[in-house]
Amino acid sequence: MTMYENDIEYTLISEEKIRSVVAELCERINRDFFGKETILLIILKGSLIFASDLMRGLDIPVTIDFMQASSYGTGSESSGEISIKKDMDNDPTDKHIIIVEDIIDSGRTLSLLRANLEDRGAASVSICALLSKPARREVEVRTEYIGMEIPDEFVVGYGLDFAERYRNLPYIGVLKPIVYSD
Ligand code: IMP
Ligand code: MG
Repeated sequence: MTMYENDIEYTLISEEKIRSVVAELCERINRDFFGKETILLIILKGSLIFASDLMRGLDIPVTIDFMQASSYGTGSESSGEISIKKDMDNDPTDKHIIIVEDIIDSGRTLSLLRANLEDRGAASVSICALLSKPARREVEVRTEYIGMEIPDEFVVGYGLDFAERYRNLPYIGVLKPIVYSD
């Protein structure tokens, strides 16, 4: 893709590597959820592309649902609040839910989201994130499935954005600092 060429410092995860990471996640989920009715809860918007690849590798009875949420908290306290812009259509009560997220950064959004679903009586809540930046974690969050741990760099592509752009880049790249400093 030449359109974004000048904005990307380097490729962090190639298309080929993404495919193998997603395939490994599918294998693990297929084993753990064999025969189990499950809802893939896709967190908008960044998880769109990851989720569409992930679900096609799942050999379990899944349905999909969507949620758009963000966290707002104070300092480094773990008690923040979750702002739900779009809630899931299903009632989570008694459902097995796998949250599909693009990247875990501070961990705020996911820890609040998991608590929210548990409070509403979900039978089980698991987290599947393509990427994790452990160096940025502010809140402890249990994560069942992580595709790859990455260094503390701002990445775009494969659904991940900067100011809503670069989501259509087919690989994951590190953005040149010049792009966000002007
Ligand atoms: P947190 O874990 O609650 O801090 O928020 C994670 C969210 O921040 C993700 O769902 C992304 O939308 C966004 N995010 C964090 N790091 C990056 C990045 O490197 N590139 C693009 N989006 C990011
Ligand atoms: Mg984003």
